[in-house]
Order: sequence, then C-alpha cells, then structure tokens
Amino acid sequence: MHNYGTLDSSYKAAGGEAGVRRLVNEFYHQMESQKRGQHIRAMHKDNLDIVKDKLSLFLMAWLGGPRNYAEKYGGISIPMVHQHLIIGEEERDAWLFCMEEALKHQDYDTTFKKYLIEQLALPAEKIMQVSQMAHS
Ligand code: HEM
Repeated sequence: MHNYGTLDSSYKAAGGEAGVRRLVNEFYHQMESQKRGQHIRAMHKDNLDIVKDKLSLFLMAWLGGPRNYAEKYGGISIPMVHQHLIIGEEERDAWLFCMEEALKHQDYDTTFKKYLIEQLALPAEKIMQVSQMAHS
C-alpha cells in the first residue's frame, strides 16, 4: 500500500522541487512536440517561462510540499484561472495525455505515476465543467 496522499509523501515521490520542475518541463515539451498537444499549446502565451514556474510551484504545494506558489503569486482557484479558456473533453484529455507522456520520462514508481494521473484527472474534470458552464 502507498501513502501518497499523506503529508509530503507525494512531493517526495515526485523528487521534490527539482523533480517537479523536471516533470513540468517535460510536460510542456510534450505539449509542444505531440500532435495532440498543439491545440492546447496554442491556448498559451508564446513564452512558457512563467506558466512553467506557476505550474511547478502549484504542483509542489498540491503534492504536500512547500507553499511557494501562494508566497510568490498569491491565492489561486484552479477552475477560475482557466475559466476564460474553452475547455471541453478534447482539451481535458489532451492535457492529461501530455502529462502521461511526460510521466513516462520520469523515474517515478509505476504506482506513483498511476496515482498522480488519477489525482490530476480530478482538477482537470472540474476545470472542464466550470469552463463549459461559463461558455454555455
Ligand atoms: C484541463 C485541461 C487544461 C488546460 C487546457 C489548461 C490550459 C492552461 C492554459 C492555456 C494556461 C495559461 C492561461 C493564461 O495564460 O491565460 C494555464 C495555466 C495554468 N494551469 Fe492549466 N490547463 C489545464 C489543466 C490544468 C490542471 C489539471 C492544473 C493543475 C492541477 C493546471 C494548472 C495551471 C496553473 C497553476 C496555471 C497558471 C495559472 C496562473 O497562476 O495564472 N491546469 N492552463
């Protein structure tokens, strides 16, 4: 049995700050290089430096690590920061696909990879629902 949901065990399993930043870099690399990533890549600014930093800091806290996102960027509601975007099943699945591809390049335990993608599917779903409501 794993204990990924407790304290900072997920943050540690992800390799701490360096591990999370590696994952996020690979995630955006996948988004830029995979055909399925093109459409959601185009929803971003040309320069990805800030969004990479934001996603890294957000995930660090979300995984039970240090709360540096709030310190640097303030409070955040994940569905709200995506509300201006049109996100349906295709965009949600493309995001999760890029993350799954990025996870293949990390030396995490297989159980942790599976756990992480299942957990990320929850906010991804919520983001889609809120976007659909905002644009219906
Ligand atoms: C469901 C599919 C998703 C799509 C298509 C998507 C797309 C985007 C885009 C285009 C931006 C840049 C927004 C802008 O500059 O205006 C962004 C920002 C961001 N996304 Fe996502 N995203 C998705 C899911 C997620 C998930 C699941 C998370 C977290 C678990 C996440 C975390 C973030 C964060 C932290 C930012 C930076 C927000 C800020 O502080 O300004 N996204 N996303």
